[in-house]
Amino acid sequence: MRLIINSGGPSAIDAWREQFRAFAPDLDVVGWHEDIDPATVDYALVWAPDAGRLATFTHLKLIISAGAGVDHILADPHLPRHLSIARMVTARTRTEMAEFVLTSALMLTRDIKRVVDNQARRHWELFDSLRVAADMRVGIMGLGHLGVAAAQLLTRVGFPVTGWSRGASTLEGLPSYAGQEQFGEFLAGTDLLVCLLPATDATKGILNTATLSQLPRGASLINAGRGSHMVTQDVIDALDSGQLHQAVLDVFEQEPLPEDSPLWTHPGIIITPHCAAIPNRKERARHTALLIEANERGEALPNIYDPQRGY
Ligand code: GLV
Repeated sequence: MRLIINSGGPSAIDAWREQFRAFAPDLDVVGWHEDIDPATVDYALVWAPDAGRLATFTHLKLIISAGAGVDHILADPHLPRHLSIARMVTARTRTEMAEFVLTSALMLTRDIKRVVDNQARRHWELFDSLRVAADMRVGIMGLGHLGVAAAQLLTRVGFPVTGWSRGASTLEGLPSYAGQEQFGEFLAGTDLLVCLLPATDATKGILNTATLSQLPRGASLINAGRGSHMVTQDVIDALDSGQLHQAVLDVFEQEPLPEDSPLWTHPGIIITPHCAAIPNRKERARHTALLIEANERGEALPNIYDPQRGY
């Protein structure tokens, strides 16, 4: 059985092989850059495969995304549409995302950006702390595995949390809003907007002026969904006008974020390098090995991309 990997580049392949030795000792693991007969590939673990390559694997059984999202894979115009794509959603992914959102929410609650900026200037400033978690109404857009995990953890810490998703959701203890009709009501009661939506045509550019202007003035934003959710200039304008107080941005239209992007130096923005929820290689190898075994046994696989829903 052969698995080809396109994640982490050629230098990562030895580390991948080592992980797979533990979970699938008989699996033949090859790197994307290796010269192999394309007809011998059974499985592909990929993040952003170069266009057309997956289509050359004539005996491919399953595409496994190296992340929770599949947008990087769908970008391939020659993608073999008959194949299933498994999204990488592990317990670890959920924990990492929940902890990332919690960390960011606490940083925003206590204005840690201001503290860190002050440190860089050796400036000792004691300012009034305006809020604690209980004062910060968090609104989570996207109630998939990651959104729910974040909502549960933040609720436990004392943040009042609501959720918004496309379809109605009935999660115990989580007041939630659905669809365009309830979007305004959701936004009006949100001091900290968290975007954990999948990247679909319907969610593209959703973090725009029309959306941000419905938040209470001085609200904050965390985007750990995709760069395409955000109209970058609209977010900058909202920060400049004071409509938004601060933003933690983990994802960008272009990654790595170009050195000349104005986002880097904006005083209201904390940049993180798309690190919110990327499970380590061990977790991803474990999960991939389980998927391959289950697929070989003909079992239904979890978190398969659904073209109807778009995620
Ligand atoms: C990361 O963004 C992922 O899709 O897992």
